[in-house]
Amino acid sequence: MDRSLGYSTTSDISRIGTAVQRRIRCRLSAWPAKAHPAPARRHPWRLRSGRDIMHAMAKILILYYSGTGNTAKMAEMVHRGVEEEGGVEVGLKKAEDTRLEDLLEPEGILVGSPTYYGTMAWQVKKLLDESVKYHGRLAGKVGGAFSSAGGMGGGNETTIMNILKALLIHGMIIPGTPSGDHYGPVAVGSPDGRSEENCLALGRRTAALVKRLFG
Ligand SMILES: Cc1cc2nc3c(=O)[nH]c(=O)nc-3n(C[C@H](O)[C@H](O)[C@H](O)COP(=O)(O)O)c2cc1C
Repeated sequence: MDRSLGYSTTSDISRIGTAVQRRIRCRLSAWPAKAHPAPARRHPWRLRSGRDIMHAMAKILILYYSGTGNTAKMAEMVHRGVEEEGGVEVGLKKAEDTRLEDLLEPEGILVGSPTYYGTMAWQVKKLLDESVKYHGRLAGKVGGAFSSAGGMGGGNETTIMNILKALLIHGMIIPGTPSGDHYGPVAVGSPDGRSEENCLALGRRTAALVKRLFG
């Protein structure tokens, strides 16, 4: 499966949040028994939220830029962390392939960038600057960031903070962590075992929070 094309899914109804399951069961059981047609304005296969029943799970988008592959490895690890937690759909996209509209649907957005001169690469900054088009519409989504730099003290934390500032200005919810990399996973060059643990943890905690808020 080419994850860059869209969302992978663990589309097992048993993994959908219980509140959503209840709504689905209720709708599925009520629909055929109805004596009168449903109101025309709502499709029978849609939940009240407007989300399609067949795609009722919340979504997380991991978008990243990587010049030489280190941040890409981190993105894969974060992706694995989301899958470990389960119960959400997760997509992986390069920043260059991400359309602005792709930011609207997911309930969680995680952003990765190499550290370039102490901040994010222009490919990520461009996307964030252009996201002003949807200013206000990303509010309430869950966010996070990760970065690989060339050296210790090379600026990976300042890169993460610069990404997080943009997400906060969008009104997004950013969970920190009391253990490990507090602001988000960092790597020096290619991610080592320590970085991997932090990437997996970011994926897991983002998925857990998205499920709590939107499941
Ligand atoms: C234009 C440019 C600027 C960079 N600036 C920094 C920097 O300020 N601090 C640092 O530690 N490394 C810097 N690096 C090194 C990268 O952050 C590092 O190699 C990183 O692991 C690359 O990630 P990637 O493989 O995902 O592209 C820079 C590299 C480039 C190409």
